[in-house]
Amino acid sequence: DGPLPWHMVAAVPRILSDALPFLEETAARYGDVVPFPMNGRPAVLVDGPAGVRRVLQDNHRGYGKETIQYTSLALVTGAGLLTTDGEVWRAHRRAVQPAFHRDTLAHVAAESVRAAGLVREEWDAAPGRVVDVDDVLMRATLHVVGRTLFGADLVDGGAAEGHRLVGAVHEALEVVMRRATRPWTAPPGVPTPTARRLTRSRATLDEACAAMVRSRRAQREPGHDVLGLLLASGMTDGEVRDELVTLVIAGHETVAASLTWTLRLLAEHPEVVARVHAELDAVLGDGTPGSAPDGTPGSAPGGTPGGTSGGTPGGTRSVTWQDVARLPVVRAVVDEGLRLYPPAWVITRRALADDVVDGVPLPAGTLVILSPWVHHRRADLWPDPTRFDVDRWLGEPAGGRREGYIPFGAGPRLCIGRDFAVVESVVVLAELLRDRTVAPAGPRPGVVASVTLRPRGGMHLAARPRRPVPP
Ligand code: HEM
Repeated sequence: DGPLPWHMVAAVPRILSDALPFLEETAARYGDVVPFPMNGRPAVLVDGPAGVRRVLQDNHRGYGKETIQYTSLALVTGAGLLTTDGEVWRAHRRAVQPAFHRDTLAHVAAESVRAAGLVREEWDAAPGRVVDVDDVLMRATLHVVGRTLFGADLVDGGAAEGHRLVGAVHEALEVVMRRATRPWTAPPGVPTPTARRLTRSRATLDEACAAMVRSRRAQREPGHDVLGLLLASGMTDGEVRDELVTLVIAGHETVAASLTWTLRLLAEHPEVVARVHAELDAVLGDGTPGSAPDGTPGSAPGGTPGGTSGGTPGGTRSVTWQDVARLPVVRAVVDEGLRLYPPAWVITRRALADDVVDGVPLPAGTLVILSPWVHHRRADLWPDPTRFDVDRWLGEPAGGRREGYIPFGAGPRLCIGRDFAVVESVVVLAELLRDRTVAPAGPRPGVVASVTLRPRGGMHLAARPRRPVPP
C-alpha cells in the first residue's frame, strides 16, 4: 500500500539483470501484490495465492498476452498457442488438444526411453566420464517432441542436423531474451547483428517445419498427431508453421531444463537416489531370479539369469508407459525438481480492463508479473522452502496438483504439454537411474534466468554403476 519506496524505484533495473533474487526479495519484503513503475506503465508482481488464482483462473478473460515476454517470443513463434489470446487462441487450442491424449503419452514414454539412451551413451563412452547433461538433454527432448508430435526425426536425421536445430532454437531464444530485457533494442526490421541472428535462426526453424509439412503432405493419411491435426484443421500454412515452432520451442527446452536441474539435485541427494533405486527394483526387478514382479526371469543385461550370485541392478527391461503410475517416488522427484527449478520462471499478463486483485485495484493496461520461482519459495505454502524434500509429494492423492504449485501455469491456459512433460521426465529419470547413480562434478552452477532457467556454464555430471544387489 502507499507509494513505492524510493529504493525500489532505483532497483528496477535489477528486474532485468538479476531477476530471481530481485523478485524474491521484493515479494518477501512488500507482500502479495507489489506495484512497480516499468517503462512508465503500471506493473505489479502478484504472488499471493488469491491473486494468482484471480489472474490465471477466476478472471482469466480479463487478462491478455500483450506483454514484453510474449510479444518478444512471438518474433520467433509467430501467433502460436503461447502468444495469442481470445478467439484465435481458443480455436487453435481446440484443434491441437486432441493430440495430447493417452496414446500419445504411451508414445512419449517409448520415445523417452530412446532419449534417455542418448544420455546413457554419452556416459558410457568412457568410465567415469563427466557429461554436460544440459547439452545432451536438449537434443534428447527435441527427439521426443519430433517423434511424438510430428512423426519426424528432428535429431536422428543426423547429430549435425539435431545440433543445427537446437542451435537455431537457442539463438532465437537468446535474441528474444535480449529484446525482452533491453527495452532500448532497435525496433524489428532494423538490420542490427541481433536482427540478422534472429532472421537466420528463424530461417532454420522455418526450413525444418516446411520439411515436416512437405513429407506429411506426401503421405495419403494426415495422421492423428499434432501435425496431422493441424494440416486437417483448415489452418493456413503460416498458422501451421507458428504452431509447429511454438511446440518445438515450448516442448523441449522446458523439459530439458527441468531434467537438468533435477539430476543435479539428485546428485546432491544420494539418499533420495537410494529410494528411487528401491522403487525401480520393485517395479522392474533387480536382476535376481524371479525378482521382476511381472514374472520375467532375471535377464538384465549382464545379469545372472538363474544364477545364485546376486543380480545386476537395473531391472530386466526398460521403463514403459504402464510403469509411470507405479513410480510415485520418481514422480515426487519430478514434482519437487519442478518446484525448486520451475523452467518457466515467469508468467506475464496484461489487464484488459480495471480489476481488483487481492484487494488492490489495478487499472486496465497493468502488466501483471507472476513468478513460479518466487511462488514456490513461499514459506507459508512450502515449509522449509529451499529444501529438496520429495516427501512433500508422497501420500498426495493427485501428485503434483496442489494450490501454490504452478510450474505449468493454471486455469484454461494451463500448459497443454503438462502430462507429456511429466511422463517424459519420469521415464527419462527412471531409465537414467535404474542401473547407476549420478555424481556432481564441481559446485552447483548458477542459474541464468533466460527464457527458461539455464545452468551457467552447463551441467556437468558423472554417472557411476550401482553396486550389485546381494544374493
Ligand atoms: C504453456 C510450462 C512442457 C507446450 C505453458 C505455461 C507454462 C508452461 C508455465 C503457461 C504459460 C502462461 O500461462 O502464460 C512448461 C514446463 C514444461 C512444459 C515447465 C516442462 C517441464 C511443455 C511441453 C509442451 C508444451 C512438453 C508441448 C509438447 C505448451 C504450450 C503452451 C504451454 C503450447 C501454451 C498453452 C496455451 O496457452 O494454450 N507451459 N511447459 N509445454 N506449454 Fe508448456
